[in-house]
Amino acid sequence: LRGRRRSCVVRFAEEWAEPAARTGFLAFPESFVFGVATSAYQIEGAAAEGRGPSIWDTFSTAGHAKDGATGEVACDHYHLFKEDIRLMSSLKVKAYRFSISWSRLLPNGDAAEPPSEEGLRFYSELLDALLQAGIEPWVTLYHWDLPEALHAKGGWLSKEMIVKAFGDYARICFHHFGDRVKYWITLNEPWCSAVLGYNTGDHAPGYTEETDTACYVAGHHLLLAHAEAAQIYREEFAQQGGEVGISLNADWRQADSEREEDLEAARRAMEFSLGWFAEPIYLGDYPKCMRESCGDRLPSFSASEKKKLFQSSDFFGLNSYSGNMAKAPPRPFEGTGYWEDIGVEWWHTDHQWARTDMDWPVVPWSLREILLYVQDRYKPMGGIIVTENGCACEPDISAELDERPGALLPRPWDGVRRATSSDFEDPERVRFFRAHLSAVHAAIERKAQVKGYFAWSFLDNFEWAEGYGKRFGIVRVDFQTQERTIKSSGHFLARVFEANGLEA
Ligand code: NOJ
Repeated sequence: LRGRRRSCVVRFAEEWAEPAARTGFLAFPESFVFGVATSAYQIEGAAAEGRGPSIWDTFSTAGHAKDGATGEVACDHYHLFKEDIRLMSSLKVKAYRFSISWSRLLPNGDAAEPPSEEGLRFYSELLDALLQAGIEPWVTLYHWDLPEALHAKGGWLSKEMIVKAFGDYARICFHHFGDRVKYWITLNEPWCSAVLGYNTGDHAPGYTEETDTACYVAGHHLLLAHAEAAQIYREEFAQQGGEVGISLNADWRQADSEREEDLEAARRAMEFSLGWFAEPIYLGDYPKCMRESCGDRLPSFSASEKKKLFQSSDFFGLNSYSGNMAKAPPRPFEGTGYWEDIGVEWWHTDHQWARTDMDWPVVPWSLREILLYVQDRYKPMGGIIVTENGCACEPDISAELDERPGALLPRPWDGVRRATSSDFEDPERVRFFRAHLSAVHAAIERKAQVKGYFAWSFLDNFEWAEGYGKRFGIVRVDFQTQERTIKSSGHFLARVFEANGLEA
């Protein structure tokens, strides 16, 4: 056990240490897509300007995010998008992944009503400005902000209603924007919508497992909604010549030892996270271990639903931030429910690993491992796009405002935080991106078909339940003045984007 752990630390150190063990220029394939990512609720603001409420308005205004934060103003991107696109250009960004706010287009979520002119105009102008700047839009249809009106009708728990509503909404987006958008992402991280929304209650709509099936039911309908939108695109909009994919999230789970029970724990952890959503799409049904553990609590797909889901994603969008160990528990968990069903020590970690402000371990090689795993297990036909990777690694804004002596204690990464110039130094984030890009490169060398990488995030923004304290941006946002300052990680990535690679 100890030997194994030590070897993981060595592998970690290899890629993390500077100078890296890999030397020379790490060139990415010529057609590689380098971009930055955001989502509507996290940056747009203008919550009431022609837009209907979403479950995140309800959840955050009820005080469920840290310090009472809401997305009411956020980065005010709704008003500042032109300036933001100029910033992207200066950062040599080739592609921009953002999401459409469903209730900005359809305030009641209902496609029987005509879409909002104001909403259509906003996204249309945004797309035009991006294309003018030579930036390729990658558009997510659903990044967690379900129209409240649809939630009131049962939301993700109501199969017929939600699958149709999502399909209708997708059709409107394809119809109005598909001339300019060639890369669509149906859903962002359905695992989070299902588990954080319908099990732990950390995210909107904030359900805590009232039954031990809600998250499986929501997950099932999320998958069917994805398949519906993908089918609509393929059947009705094929002439637009674009691609439709999905972005799934998972962190790598490394077996804590070579013991069979720990290897099995790692397999289960991957299948209950990534596999839950990837297997119906790439392999034809839910993972076997989920069916065995959940029985009928996990809904089943009909034969036609299976068919509709199978290969319904033109590329594999992967959001990955961290890694962890998986370990068999000393004795089996009792009871039923998502966490009991997985039955492994999910958060077991190696305490020598550095942590980000989210407390997520920094494990660059885990990105290489998960990319190799996705390639090997799912062989996605259009390749893999890392649709998110990044880190929060700056002092909590509330700590910053705290003037008591000692309030800003150095954290384990102890870097220089602020330069004396107007620029903003974030050396930890530079190291994070350097190490993770090197890991992506290593995966490509080992034949993973990775076609793109989007840094999360373009701007500091509303980090959901964490409010504004956790900053993921490569551009600093002063939330009092809306002033933007490019961080040193932004300058670093601009050089990578321009050179299509980096010095190891
Ligand atoms: C995943 C989500 O897609 C995004 O909205 C979030 O801000 C980042 N991860 C960081 O937690």
